[in-house]
Amino acid sequence: MPLTQWSEAWRTGDETVDSQHIELFRMVNGLHDAIVAGQGREQLTVTLDALAAYVGTHFQTEERLMQQGGYPGFAAHKAKHEELKKNAAKVIDDYRSGRAVLTISLSRFLADWIRHHIDGEDRAMIRYFQARSTHPPG
Ligand SMILES: [Fe+2]
Ligand SMILES: [Fe+2]
Repeated sequence: MPLTQWSEAWRTGDETVDSQHIELFRMVNGLHDAIVAGQGREQLTVTLDALAAYVGTHFQTEERLMQQGGYPGFAAHKAKHEELKKNAAKVIDDYRSGRAVLTISLSRFLADWIRHHIDGEDRAMIRYFQARSTHPPG
């Protein structure tokens, strides 16, 4: 059974963002399954790197949207992205160097973080753009 399941309730209404979120859920489930299956360090590192790279791509997509759209919450939203990237880089580094082991607390943390972030910051961002395109300023 997958760790976390995508819910239609988390759609932001932006097709690109939504499809990237669905892929993120798929990858977090993949990481979780790999940890549960007891995969080795080499394989898990590849999975972690792929997830981190995809997270980076996704954050870039959102940050471009916010910047181009002059979103007032840009700095705060970007700060949340930076915080996750920094923490993830440390986890990966610790794991790669053998300083830490990988447990399902990581995949659980990521699933919770993503759900919470989509439901909060990401939906707020898309709501702002949608309201603005329906009601142009002036
Ligand atoms: Fe975001
Ligand atoms: Fe997002």
